[in-house]
Amino acid sequence: MKVRIHTLFQYLLDTTTAEPEAILGFSLSQSPTLGDYLPDLDPNLPLDWNQKSFQGLPALRAAVLAQAGLTHLSPDNVLITAGAAEANYLALMQLVQPGDHIVIETPGWPQAAVLGQAIGAHITRIQRHEGDGWQLPLQALSDAVTPGTRLIFLTNPNNPTGQLMSAEDLSQIITIADRVGAWLVVDEVYAGLEWVAPRPPSIAGLYPRGITTGSVSKALGLQGLRTGWMIAQDPAMIMDAMILRENSSEIMNIMGEVIAEIALRPDRLGQALARARADAIANLDKLDHFIASQPRLSWVRPQAGLIGLARLDLDMASDTFARRLLASPYRTFLLPGTAYDQPAHIRLGVGGGTSVNLDLGLSRLAALLKEIS
Ligand SMILES: Cc1ncc(COP(=O)(O)O)c(C=O)c1O
Repeated sequence: MKVRIHTLFQYLLDTTTAEPEAILGFSLSQSPTLGDYLPDLDPNLPLDWNQKSFQGLPALRAAVLAQAGLTHLSPDNVLITAGAAEANYLALMQLVQPGDHIVIETPGWPQAAVLGQAIGAHITRIQRHEGDGWQLPLQALSDAVTPGTRLIFLTNPNNPTGQLMSAEDLSQIITIADRVGAWLVVDEVYAGLEWVAPRPPSIAGLYPRGITTGSVSKALGLQGLRTGWMIAQDPAMIMDAMILRENSSEIMNIMGEVIAEIALRPDRLGQALARARADAIANLDKLDHFIASQPRLSWVRPQAGLIGLARLDLDMASDTFARRLLASPYRTFLLPGTAYDQPAHIRLGVGGGTSVNLDLGLSRLAALLKEIS
């Protein structure tokens, strides 16, 4: 099994040293600093393993369930991981064998496609269409799922469109998966910043073969902690994930666990989300007005999270456009839609706080669009 590079990661690698002056489409809230947590940190904390559980700090696992509204599950149903990325990795690698059929969405987070290909799975992609507001077409999903389907992988909210699946959608998806006994992994890494409806329920609480993955990376801006989780009702799934993890990183990063537990305490979590929501909604309104003022741009406003896909009405592939915007004199970074098999789109968004220079980035984007229109 060899894991091949995806266009999204290739673009990030190609541009890591570009030193842009502005970033458009940053996908996480402004990150706190270590100082924000110092008052709650114990200077005598041993920097050893957490000395309590291979599944992660019990208090953190309880907090993970609380923030997801899953208090009817037990902390035994939670495994702390190195971000949602590791949770997805552990689930996919342990559940999917060569020749298995898996169903994924496009546009979507590329991890399931990359790993599915490496494993030698048969992959069916369900196309989300812009004309339908990028909603997941449930009939197409139903048609794609066959008795041989092992696993369905979805994001809610969707990366990159920011669209939501409702409780009703999820219950229909469960019916589709349950028909054939398929596993259903729903990556909720963008949960917590919903704009048009309450946060949808987590799949792990609804379906015995449902796996919820998530982390403190996005709404809380704590990506560098590398702390996330897998939630699953099936103890064998949690055990299989732990066995695989034992053969890579073995145990969790203790600082990540401790700080994430502090960040998820109800008073801190409530304040952090309120701040992130206020910043994001103001900037989303600004971005919305900007797009409306640009004849070459249009988009379906995200229903949740900080990013969305904007259509670029130009005779130029979005990869070429993004590289031109990154070069002098514009020096502005954004992800081209080619990273998501959407060559006529660019990923826009409003995360990152003051450090991304949103206003400057938008003025540079306007200037490039004017130059080439
Ligand atoms: C849908 C999705 N899943 C997982 C990840 C990885 O997140 P984490 O930092 O929690 O590993 C990302 C990061 O961009 C993402 O967009």
